[in-house]
Amino acid sequence: MNIIDKIISNFINNKSLYIGEKVTISEHMIQTAMIAENAKSTNNLICSCLLHDYGHFILEDPDKLVRKKIDGKHEDIGYEYLKKFFKKEVVEPIKYHVLAKRYLAKKKKYFNSLSEASKISLKLQGGALNKKESKEFEKKYFFKQTIKLRKFDEVAKRTDIKMKSIIEYKNLLSSHLL
Ligand SMILES: [Fe+2]
Repeated sequence: MNIIDKIISNFINNKSLYIGEKVTISEHMIQTAMIAENAKSTNNLICSCLLHDYGHFILEDPDKLVRKKIDGKHEDIGYEYLKKFFKKEVVEPIKYHVLAKRYLAKKKKYFNSLSEASKISLKLQGGALNKKESKEFEKKYFFKQTIKLRKFDEVAKRTDIKMKSIIEYKNLLSSHLL
């Protein structure tokens, strides 16, 4: 099976819920991409959004990890796997999307807006960044795109909207391969 068909089949067959939410991981990623499209993002960013939590598909049981208070590092697992197939413009924001959450979590307003599950995982991920770490992150080439991805990610948990199918993204995925 080629990589695009494999990804599509994982989206269709994986029914795991996104940790602590009422949508599946697949629905959550598709919604993140839909929000990016509505915000007139670049195709690179839409593709990043669509694949940003792909590491959860590779991890054995993301729910169990959270219950055991272990951070599965889904961003690294997704990145390491996807970088073999996709352009760096697509995979770099995936690698840093947890760092973006830790960056944004310095602000009280953002922290308070996080779901309970997200607050718990923030702790496991190392908590908010300090000043020095934040400055380092701001220098990263993909900083802006990653922050955008994170903001779309945060609100992509709705159960009352008409969802697109992963099949509709087949061409987008294919056109971002290495
Ligand atoms: Fe996400």
